Amino acid sequence: MKKKCDLLIHNAQLITCADNGSEFGLVEQGAVACDQGKIVWMGASDQISAFAANTSIDANNNIVTPGLIDCHTHLVFAGSRANEFAMRLAGASYEAIAQAGGGILSTVKATRAACLEQLVESTCQRLAHLKSQGVMTVEIKSGYGLDFDSELKMLAAARAAGERMGMDVKTTLLAAHAIPPEFADDRPGYVSLICQEIIPHVAKHKLADAVDAFCEGIGFSVAETRQIFDAAARWGLPVKLHADQLSDLGGAGLVAEYGGLSADHIEYTSLNSVQKMAEHHTIATLLPYAFYALQETKKPPIKAFREWGIDMAIATDSNPGTAPTTNLLQCLHMACTQFGLTVEEAILGVTINAAKALGIDDEKGSIEVGKASQMVLWDTDQIADLVYWQGQTLVKQTFK
Ligand code: NIG
Ligand code: FE
Repeated sequence: MKKKCDLLIHNAQLITCADNGSEFGLVEQGAVACDQGKIVWMGASDQISAFAANTSIDANNNIVTPGLIDCHTHLVFAGSRANEFAMRLAGASYEAIAQAGGGILSTVKATRAACLEQLVESTCQRLAHLKSQGVMTVEIKSGYGLDFDSELKMLAAARAAGERMGMDVKTTLLAAHAIPPEFADDRPGYVSLICQEIIPHVAKHKLADAVDAFCEGIGFSVAETRQIFDAAARWGLPVKLHADQLSDLGGAGLVAEYGGLSADHIEYTSLNSVQKMAEHHTIATLLPYAFYALQETKKPPIKAFREWGIDMAIATDSNPGTAPTTNLLQCLHMACTQFGLTVEEAILGVTINAAKALGIDDEKGSIEVGKASQMVLWDTDQIADLVYWQGQTLVKQTFK
């Protein structure tokens, strides 16, 4: 008697991204059976006669990967910052533009003025491009609302856009992205609004999956970030951090101390922080597009991450200021060319390690029995093609 299943993919080079001893977790001549949204069996293609599948796909020895994950984005926003790009080309720095009231605050103004539907609509367009690249799970942060209602509006827009696009969205509260203009003379007042009102409400109503902050000279101090992390901990929300992007405030070590999911950007991260990340299994999320767009020269300490066994994720950081892109595959390319990652590190960075950065690695990020049946069949038999080739998509078929 044959076993029934919804989907059977066979004759594939399975890039499982699971820890099976081979590079990329490769299974050659592999087959995978899925039923009711889960992977129920994996094995060799010559064993598939045991199955009767509703849909059977011959991969022709091409690559199959887990559905890709973009674990750090600011996809919900209104307005444009194209003018700032021009200003930066003319010599103004990101920090100088921010201090002059541009930067994040200019996007805040536009985002506050936009209605929910406008935000959902523009976010769907950005998600559509990610989806065309085989991305199935996307983290989206708030952080352009900076008041109670506008932050909630952003979180709601993120989830609604995910639903409309048939993609899985994880939301992160980033109310601590900048001090809003009405609190310019009252920083403690804004931090307590976040800690006493926004975080408790978001936690009670399960509106966000994590809490983030921008710990930086032009963002929030270490002491303020601690207050926000303490509030998140009281309300049972995991934390992550925009850490050490423009200077070393010890942010990566700080988020590690709190048992956080990930430290993101981390160009200026010190060895001391790297050691704390290793101790607490904090993921290092690399954002090579922001590095490139800001024309940064200080690279994240990749060698130390490797030496200390820290898993690296890669994300777009998609946002109107420092990463005007929805091209995750290009970010893989850049992580290799700019930061010296290997092809294997790049692929793991948008699969299993990105899942770890979101705390969802028990259900996603690798092709393993019991995990979600989210996979991409690529129009190539060489895994390096995903990182190497830029331009038209190599996605042949997606399964979700
Ligand atoms: O991840 N660094 C802070 N936040 C964003 C930039 C946001 C913006 O400029 O709008 C980032 O790079
Ligand atoms: Fe960011």
